[in-house]
Amino acid sequence: MNRSMKPSHVMILAVFAAGLVTLLLFISRCSTFSNVLLETENSLDRFLLQQSMLHDRLKSAVAEIDRVTQDSQQKPDLPTIYAITPTYKRFTQKADLTRLSQTFMHIPNFHWVVVEDAEKTSKIVKDLLTVKKIRFTHLAVKTQVKLLKKESDPHWKKHRGVDQRNLGLRWIRENIKDKSGVVYFADDDNTYDIDLFEEMRFTKSVSVWPVALVGGLRWEGPICVYGKVLSFFTAWQPEREFPLDMAAFAINIDIIQKYRQSYINPESKLGYLETDYLQSFNIKKEDMEPKANNCRKILVWHTQTVEPKMKQEKRLKALGMASDPSIDI
Ligand code: UGA
Ligand code: MN
Repeated sequence: MNRSMKPSHVMILAVFAAGLVTLLLFISRCSTFSNVLLETENSLDRFLLQQSMLHDRLKSAVAEIDRVTQDSQQKPDLPTIYAITPTYKRFTQKADLTRLSQTFMHIPNFHWVVVEDAEKTSKIVKDLLTVKKIRFTHLAVKTQVKLLKKESDPHWKKHRGVDQRNLGLRWIRENIKDKSGVVYFADDDNTYDIDLFEEMRFTKSVSVWPVALVGGLRWEGPICVYGKVLSFFTAWQPEREFPLDMAAFAINIDIIQKYRQSYINPESKLGYLETDYLQSFNIKKEDMEPKANNCRKILVWHTQTVEPKMKQEKRLKALGMASDPSIDI
């Protein structure tokens, strides 16, 4: 048998080999091209990330300059408001603190003492505070285990924010000396009218006003006649000496310094947190200073933020497709 190839076979083989080489070349060029694309995309990502980090640094630097300028612009004759805010990690934390900060940034001579219910201060709260034009002190203390409610208990079963407020009080006692001012407990989920702070600014001992949407009522608080507290409007445990919400009063800093042992008692009976604390200053309702148009104007609302539903997030998480966790909310 003639084993040598026919010229036509050689031709076919040559064309096939040339095609193969072209295909291989094409594939290799394609993969080089896609590598180049990928590399470009990566550098663009890196560039955008660097740009956003630079932007954040610039924003905090501007906020710091504003704070320093504000400090120099502080009117020495204007008492400072020290607002103590306990806060804890949850889906709505950043939203609540953003709303608060955008109220507080309009208040002159204001110092925000933010105390996290955590082992240590978090980056998310720190970043939020540093970019805002507000003087602040950032602290953290985790609520003692014995004060925590059981998982199955409703949220009101134990007092909340007590260890945090007490740490804020201690910080004020140790750091603010010989300065006129008032102390106010501003929970992170309430809504505040900026006028409230001008009402409380010149408090001599303890000033009071009504709070809306609390105690199962449209409003709860002092009933005042001719600039004196006559009684209190409340629907629950009216025998309490001061049936007031934490957002319903402010205390002069000299009183805070004078009664150095007065702290909020985490062991107070439910609903007695505020009355027990106010009673520890030996104050009588006759000595309280009614504010907000003789306690007839609402300037603070006990708005509680609803816990958002995360049904879809959980479903996607189970599929390994949850939302990008590197995007802070
Ligand atoms: C009501 C009153 O308005 C509070 O002033 C009072 O402390 C509380 O009841 C109580 O009896 O202890 P409520 O709206 O039910 O408050 O409580 P939250 O707003 O959930 O908590 C009060 C503050 O403590 C908030 O600033 C919150 O961020 C903080 N908190 C809450 C913590 O620091 N840790 C927690 O685990 C929960
Ligand atoms: Mn609340």
